[in-house]
Amino acid sequence: MAEASGPDAVGTRGKTAAQRLRRLDMFLASFEPGLLGCPGSVVVDLGYGRLPITTAEWFDRLKKRWPHVRMIGVERDPDRVNAAEHFVQPGLCFRRGDFRIPLESGENVRLIRAMNVLRQYDEAAALPAHRQILAQVGDGALLAEGTCDPLGRTMVVQLLRADAGGNPKPEGLLFATSFHEPFDPRLFQAVLPKHLIHRVVPDEPIFEFFEAWSRAAEITRSQAEFGHKQHFVAAAERLSQRVSGVDVRRAWLRKGWLLWRHAPYPSGD
Ligand SMILES: C[S@@+](CC[C@H](N)C(=O)[O-])C[C@H]1O[C@@H](n2cnc3c(N)ncnc32)[C@H](O)[C@@H]1O
Repeated sequence: MAEASGPDAVGTRGKTAAQRLRRLDMFLASFEPGLLGCPGSVVVDLGYGRLPITTAEWFDRLKKRWPHVRMIGVERDPDRVNAAEHFVQPGLCFRRGDFRIPLESGENVRLIRAMNVLRQYDEAAALPAHRQILAQVGDGALLAEGTCDPLGRTMVVQLLRADAGGNPKPEGLLFATSFHEPFDPRLFQAVLPKHLIHRVVPDEPIFEFFEAWSRAAEITRSQAEFGHKQHFVAAAERLSQRVSGVDVRRAWLRKGWLLWRHAPYPSGD
């Protein structure tokens, strides 16, 4: 299998911020409430940044629901692994590693979060990285890989499931917003995951999707007078009449979560 860039291929950069990934953590808990139900479930936060602030936040959230969950924070930068020492607690540890996740025997990884990691890489590294990550985990494990703005107000996340052979199966593309700004679908384009960000060009499905979403936003613009949220919900419902696989459950839309289940995911062949 082609390997993504090795540990020394890209210099470490990038920061993190408290609560930056809260929106995604909440979505994942709602997306699949049973995922961490098995005793011994392990969660991996891949590339946690200068300090594992968002890792510790995520662990606290998960622990409330699944007291026995275990989490491993993984960083390629050894200084960042040392700096994480103060965050260690029962159930939460930190290890040096990369897309080759440093697992010990018997660790049953069910969920991996890799946020704002692949943005540092070339587009060609994205799909091999997905494959490499999922090839090491068990059938049914979920990878959430994406990008967000510095405060986590706008994010786009690819959801991929490992099949029995460890191959990635797309489960959708999540667009999440805090409703901080007036709703405009184009705001999401700047935070598309690496495998899509260069593909917003005519004839690509992601381009057509944004065209359709922008038209839907235009048609439903009158809803903006009731708030950004109302506009987002109305536009999503309109979009779903034109584009298949747009999840229009109200509870999610009202939280600022639009999941496009049929989003294009290149085969990489
Ligand atoms: C921008 S920070 C993201 C921090 C945090 N996930 C967030 O979203 O706020 C990206 C981090 O990924 C780490 N990184 C880059 N490539 C990696 C790899 N292959 N494996 C593990 N960590 C990696 C970098 O060292 C850096 O600390």
